[in-house]
Amino acid sequence: MRRNKSKHKGWQDHYSTLAKKENFPARSVYKLKEIQQKYNLIKKGDKVLDLGCSPGSWLIYAAKLTGKKGRVIGVDLKPLSVKIPSSAKVFTADILSINDEFYELTGKNFNVILSDRLQPEIKVLMLQGLLTSAKQLFQLLKKL
Ligand SMILES: C[S@@+](CC[C@H](N)C(=O)[O-])C[C@H]1O[C@@H](n2cnc3c(N)ncnc32)[C@H](O)[C@@H]1O
Repeated sequence: MRRNKSKHKGWQDHYSTLAKKENFPARSVYKLKEIQQKYNLIKKGDKVLDLGCSPGSWLIYAAKLTGKKGRVIGVDLKPLSVKIPSSAKVFTADILSINDEFYELTGKNFNVILSDRLQPEIKVLMLQGLLTSAKQLFQLLKKL
């Protein structure tokens, strides 16, 4: 799913329409689909942690891939406003507040950890956003 800058609007419209049609809350699902097709990251029965999961596209897609025996845990500052599969659970929280209490509920044995542009939602330079994402992820992974 390569993006051509000059065709960005067309890309947005095409994937937004497709996402709506396929009942995903955001077009970002097609990024994960492309990754999945290439690397087969998520397998049936896997336990997946999705950091910054709202509005829920990756979470729903991951739950489809892991199936009924799998488990998908999402965390986001914002609550989800869509129905999620029964094998998925969402915590409304800051990922940096994740502590032992959280892991007592979820366990730590995740097969896959997902995170999609975790930068805060203020309009900042893209590089700054990327650095924030990396820093947040690094801090969290240290706790695992
Ligand atoms: C680009 S969106 C993720 C889209 C999602 N992958 C999907 O497919 O629907 C990034 C999310 O990260 C969340 N986020 C940013 N910083 C966070 C933090 N410290 N803790 C929890 N969520 C955070 C934002 O609230 C936002 O919903």
